[in-house]
Amino acid sequence: MAGRWRTTAAGRGIRLHESLQTIYADRPAIVVASSLHELAWLFGAIETWIALWLIGVRRTRPVGYTVWPPGAAILSGWSAALRAPLAARFIAPVWKPGVAAHSRTISNCSAMDKAGWHEFLVYALNRPLAFAIIHLAARLGQAANLPPIGTFVNDAEIAREVLTDTAHFDSHSPGSLGVLLTQALGSYALLNMDGPEHRQLKRRLLDVFSTKYISLLLNTVTDPLVAGLRAELATGCTVDFVAFMKTFASAMACAMMGVAVDPADERGAYADMFALATEFTALAGLGKRRLSAAETAKAHRITDRWAAHIRESYDSKTVRENSLAQQMRAMGFPFEAAKGVVIIVMIGATELITYGLPRMLALLVDSGQMVKLRDRPDLLDGAVDEGFRMVTPSNLVLRAVTADCEVRGVRFRRGTRALVVFRTIMRHDRYFPNGSRFDIERTIDPRFRRLLFGAGPHACLGTGLALAEARQVLAAMRELDGEIEIARRRYNRGQTYPGYSSLAIRLRRAAAVR
Ligand code: HEM
Repeated sequence: MAGRWRTTAAGRGIRLHESLQTIYADRPAIVVASSLHELAWLFGAIETWIALWLIGVRRTRPVGYTVWPPGAAILSGWSAALRAPLAARFIAPVWKPGVAAHSRTISNCSAMDKAGWHEFLVYALNRPLAFAIIHLAARLGQAANLPPIGTFVNDAEIAREVLTDTAHFDSHSPGSLGVLLTQALGSYALLNMDGPEHRQLKRRLLDVFSTKYISLLLNTVTDPLVAGLRAELATGCTVDFVAFMKTFASAMACAMMGVAVDPADERGAYADMFALATEFTALAGLGKRRLSAAETAKAHRITDRWAAHIRESYDSKTVRENSLAQQMRAMGFPFEAAKGVVIIVMIGATELITYGLPRMLALLVDSGQMVKLRDRPDLLDGAVDEGFRMVTPSNLVLRAVTADCEVRGVRFRRGTRALVVFRTIMRHDRYFPNGSRFDIERTIDPRFRRLLFGAGPHACLGTGLALAEARQVLAAMRELDGEIEIARRRYNRGQTYPGYSSLAIRLRRAAAVR
């Protein structure tokens, strides 16, 4: 692949990508180079000082140094940037003798390194600053308070206690995501509710998420789409798997909500739904506590467009009676109350699956474990669990701290925020040995297997659906008569959820479906 990249017309971007891969592949060499560079710098400084002393230069008055922070940052950034290529050029050949510099790219690394590299890029290219902050917080222990953002929770046990402790943490007070949702959707939107009303509403919605209803939807709505994907791949086509997932997830979401789409332009309608969800979630951010007036207006423009679709299904006499809009009406909810709930479920049902599943598929292909999955159907459930553990489509959730408290030795102060970082938690070696390694044969501790779907009163309503969708899609992929290869991929930039913006896949050998 490296050769092909080099010969494409993409030029500098490709070369940079390739150099970054070489650097990533040579991580140990870079650590050595950095240390040597630091030592050389230290010796240089000592040498200069001794030389000045030998020729008789003496300090005549106390000398003070003022460090100009941006200058220091630029200098250290610059020297770090110099070290990486130097390490790749001079240290790596000693480190891995016999391996030519140009061949130490990810395509020549171990499959596991390749999978790790692409997952790293998925985050680093999307929101680098947020990724750096999460990474930094992860290094600071079980929990890290980084004002003014809040306390990052990196430990599974603490996370579960925070999410279930409604006396000290909530989802609607200042600092929580609920505040932003209330501005955009009104006060009736599940994620911004707490207490008995929230519990009662959730209980009443269970029918829409029952296993029986989900399998009915899978059979009637997404089965034909998956069959279409398999047929396209079997005829040798290259398919954008992310585009497929957008249609897949939006079709399921629309059926579930009872949103009727024009049969003449189904794909267009689904693309529109997905774009609305993306625009909406883009309004949230790691450090944001309120939406500005302009953002609130934008949120209302988006929800008005959704409301038009939902109104139709709410009033309709012909859509499925189990659909969410119809259920809400049957339960006596006025349209305004139903709207917030339907929209929040719609958002949950689209983006997370659309970006999560392509990453899972890429992990399977990049790590070489798709071959194992093809040979062993009994590993399907394990692959789904391990895939979700690695990609944690919803990276973190927020809680407002409503009263001072201490959870397993970690102090939370009233008025601050707790950020439960699933990405860090689900890779922690303490609960998941060698946690950064993707292994579909891993036995996951059942206490934490589903933690990435939340816990406590706000635990995900769509867990069963998400797992069933992942099983349906991965089962279809493993049953293809040929090995999947990734022809091209592009990464999300600046989106709420890290992922691929496109993942072109094809069968290595065009062959018929089993
Ligand atoms: C890829 C899969 C998914 C992941 C990783 C995921 C993750 C989560 C998490 C972590 C929460 C808890 C939020 C919090 O505590 O603040 C949540 C809540 C929620 N999810 Fe999901 N979700 C997924 C798919 C879905 C799907 C497919 C649906 C709907 C069909 C859905 C609907 C919801 C709803 C309605 C809530 C709010 C529940 C409440 O506030 O009581 N999710 N999800």
